[in-house]
Amino acid sequence: MEKYLTDLVSPGTVIRDVGVMQHTSTGYRAAGKRIATVPTMGALHEGHLELIRRARRLADIVVVSIFVNPTQFAPEEDLDKYPRPFEQDVALAFREGADCIFAPAAQDMFPAGFDTGVSVEKASRPLEGAFRPTHFRGVATVVAKLVNITQPNIVVFGQKDGQQTVVVRRMLRDLNFPIDLVVVPTVRDSDGLALSSRNVYLNPEQRREAPVLFESLALARELIRHGERSCAAILHAMRALIESKSSALIDYVSIADMDTLDEVNNLHEGNSIMISLAVRFGSTRLIDNIHVQL
Ligand code: PAJ
Repeated sequence: MEKYLTDLVSPGTVIRDVGVMQHTSTGYRAAGKRIATVPTMGALHEGHLELIRRARRLADIVVVSIFVNPTQFAPEEDLDKYPRPFEQDVALAFREGADCIFAPAAQDMFPAGFDTGVSVEKASRPLEGAFRPTHFRGVATVVAKLVNITQPNIVVFGQKDGQQTVVVRRMLRDLNFPIDLVVVPTVRDSDGLALSSRNVYLNPEQRREAPVLFESLALARELIRHGERSCAAILHAMRALIESKSSALIDYVSIADMDTLDEVNNLHEGNSIMISLAVRFGSTRLIDNIHVQL
């Protein structure tokens, strides 16, 4: 039987090399182990750690990838200033029970001549896609690569990036990846603000105002609970709340079908919807969403 690197890679290893990672995972799979991969861009916070903890409960082997993927950033976006506290990330991921960390170099993931992209067409167009037209192609392509390299049975994502979960689910299904997608609820600060590595860019006043995002989502949920079925009315109330309580500029507020991301006009029994929004506090862009099942 072929000798795999699994024997050589001790627990708590940071793997940089694509081939070593792939060979290691092949060894785990050959030994009958279930692998869960948690893709991240580092700057780990409690939201990421919750994903790692869930992966730990679901699989024998937990692989956390840390890779700031250049292809999902547009030229004017924050790729260069994206936080990279690598040593701290490694310590946190191992503390939460990761077996190995895959941290490739950008030139190894996207060497000269790289020429392939995965586009999930329709799900990538609305919402974030309308403001970041190249973003989800970058995400889908890197996730396809990460799962081919780490060979998981399960991938774990956060509901925080709601459209991303829709795009990845569609890709896994359309391209017949034999992988289950597990989505973990959004982890929030005590005042409701969804944890995000971009929250550190908020100044104190913006940070005080930022919980209005979640307040507006909670308001939408309340209106629906009390019988409101007009999405226009719900979206109007959300906008009014955000505008009255913050200096944020709204990119969008949306009520869309959870699977197709088609906008919904009137709510009906049985609807599964994602209420989502994106706002800008100065140059800091925040997104949030909730899932509502009617
Ligand atoms: P990143 O922003 O680092 O997020 C990694 C994972 O953590 C994503 O699945 C995201 O939804 C989840 N996450 C972030 N904040 C969360 C929170 N407050 N609660 C729960 N989960 C949270 O998303 C990416 O990286 C990249 O696009 C990636 C998938 C790694 C591809 O490059």
